[in-house]
Amino acid sequence: MRWYRSSIGKKVLMAASGLVLLGFVAMHLLGNLLIYQGPDALNAYAKKLRDLGLLLWAARGGLLVALVVHVWTSIALSLENRRARPQRYAVQRTRETTIAARSMLVSGVMVTAYLVYHLLHFTFRVTNPDISHAMDRFGHPDVYAMVVLSFQQPAISIAYIIGMAAVCLHLSHGIGSACQSLGLNDERTIPAVAFIGRLIAVVLFIGYTAIPLSVLAGLVTIRGTLP
Ligand code: HEM
Repeated sequence: MRWYRSSIGKKVLMAASGLVLLGFVAMHLLGNLLIYQGPDALNAYAKKLRDLGLLLWAARGGLLVALVVHVWTSIALSLENRRARPQRYAVQRTRETTIAARSMLVSGVMVTAYLVYHLLHFTFRVTNPDISHAMDRFGHPDVYAMVVLSFQQPAISIAYIIGMAAVCLHLSHGIGSACQSLGLNDERTIPAVAFIGRLIAVVLFIGYTAIPLSVLAGLVTIRGTLP
């Protein structure tokens, strides 16, 4: 308990839970990229995940714990920081230089909002019930059709692109920062690790946004992908 109450304890928990969430975001992208192999590949992948049964629920439970720990520790740490320095500086001399570093709280709130919308859209399927309950030719939920029909609507694609920009902005500072909290780098390697963190965020942003953009460009259609 004493360890948790210290700032270092909270920072380590925030960093470790953040890296768990990063692992999910990377794996989720690899799964989603199956959309380029057509409906059967993506729908079979979604079915395989559902067939994991208890294991899937255990993974979902782990993710939820990581998310709660991450949000909880970030709120506790920013309240502690504010208490330690109740008066704002007359002249704001920011040591943190990048936009990503200065907007961690704002991008974190945007990521949470995006996640709530995303789960209502694709997991609970309440925002677009008209296109969310189709079955494919094998009688399994047609996740492919749900994604393509959704992203054919520019407003939904734009909402996703903004949400994923927030996710990647958050990661572009978060990855390097988490490595530092966990002591995975030292004075010498801080710049290199920060660079790798930003690179991972950019790759994830390109990979994720390519999906709605490919649908809007007509490269991925309801019948499959263009050769
Ligand atoms: C092009 C972008 C994305 C697409 C097409 C997409 C697609 C999907 C689909 C289809 C599902 C529901 C799977 C099912 O119930 O069969 C899902 C669930 C989910 N997505 Fe995404 N996703 C995208 C981006 C993201 C991002 C950036 C995040 C994280 C910040 C994310 C986090 C989640 C989570 C946490 C779930 C719930 C997982 C579960 O129920 O086990 N997604 N996504």
